[in-house]
Amino acid sequence: MIEAIAHPNVALIKYWGKRDDTLRIPASPSLSIPLLALTTQVRMDVSMGPTDQVLISGKQDASGRARNWLDTLRQQFALDVPPLVIESTSNFPASSGLASSASGFAALAKGLNQLLAMGLDEAMQSRLARLGSASAARSIGEGYMVLDGNASDHASWSARKLLDWHEWPLGVSVALCSRETKSISSSAGMLLGRETSPAYGDWISTNHRLFMQASQAIAERNFETLASASNQSFDGMLSVMESSKPPVRYLNPASHAVIDAIKALQDDGLQVFCTCDAGAQVKCIYLPEHEAAVRSRVMRVPGVLEVRRVCP
Ligand code: DP6
Repeated sequence: MIEAIAHPNVALIKYWGKRDDTLRIPASPSLSIPLLALTTQVRMDVSMGPTDQVLISGKQDASGRARNWLDTLRQQFALDVPPLVIESTSNFPASSGLASSASGFAALAKGLNQLLAMGLDEAMQSRLARLGSASAARSIGEGYMVLDGNASDHASWSARKLLDWHEWPLGVSVALCSRETKSISSSAGMLLGRETSPAYGDWISTNHRLFMQASQAIAERNFETLASASNQSFDGMLSVMESSKPPVRYLNPASHAVIDAIKALQDDGLQVFCTCDAGAQVKCIYLPEHEAAVRSRVMRVPGVLEVRRVCP
C-alpha cells in the first residue's frame, strides 16, 4: 500500500473552457498558487477483487470520476493498471470551490506512479492528473505553477513550476462563505460558457495576454502587476459565467461582501487582492505584512463562516 498527498490550488489566471473535452485540453493557459494547509491524502493498493473500489471521505465515489480516469488510462493510453483499492480523504470540504478534484487527481497520479513504480517525471504525472481534472495538473508541484502547451499537440499540455513557493511566500487566507456543494460542476459550467456565452471568444484571447503579464510579474516579484492581471482574469471568467445561458453563478452575498472589503483595503493602500474559482469561497492574497489587517477585516464580513490561513 502507498500513500500520496497533494494540495489544492487557486488559479490566479483562470482556465475556463476547453479546446478538447475528452482529453481535457484547456483553451488557454492558466497559472496558480498552492493552498498549502489544505491537503488530500490518497491510500492506494492493488485490489484482490476484479474491479476498482474508490472511497472518498469514507463513502463510495458516487460520481465515478476516479474509476473513469483509471479506465481512460487503461483504454486510451494502454497503461497496464490492475484493479485498485483507493481511499481518499481531505482536511477540507469537497465540491465547494476549494479544488478538491485538483488535489484529488494530483494525489492519484502521484500514487499511481509510486504504486506501479512507473518512474514518471513531474511533467508526466501532471499530464495524467490533467486527464482527471485539468486544474489537477497544477497541483503536482508546490509553487507558482503554469499549465500550458501547444495548440496542436495534446501531449504537451502539462504544468511546470515558475518559482518555488518559498522564493516568493505571499500570504493566502480563504474566507469560507458557504459549506454547500456547488450547484453545477466546473466541467459543465465551462462547457455552457463555450457553447452559449457571447463573451467567450474575447475571454480566451484576453486571458492569453494576462497569462504573459502574470508570468512576468512573478519573475519580477511585482505584486501590483500580478494583482491587476489576476483581477482581470477573474472578472473575465465572471463575465463568461454571467453571460452563459442560463447564467452560471457560484458567488453568494458573503462572497460579494468579501470582494468589496478587499477593494476597500486596496483603496487604503494595502497590497492585497482576491479571487474565487467555481465556488463561493474567496481566496485573499497579500504581502505577509498585511496579514493581520486583511484577516481582521474579512472576519468581520457578515456571512463569512471562517477565515483560514492557508499560506505560508
Ligand atoms: C474556476 O479543473 O475543475 O477552478 O478540467 O473539467 O475538471 P475540469 O475542470 P476544473 O476547472 C477549474 C476551473 C477554475 C479555474 C482554474 O482552476 O483554473
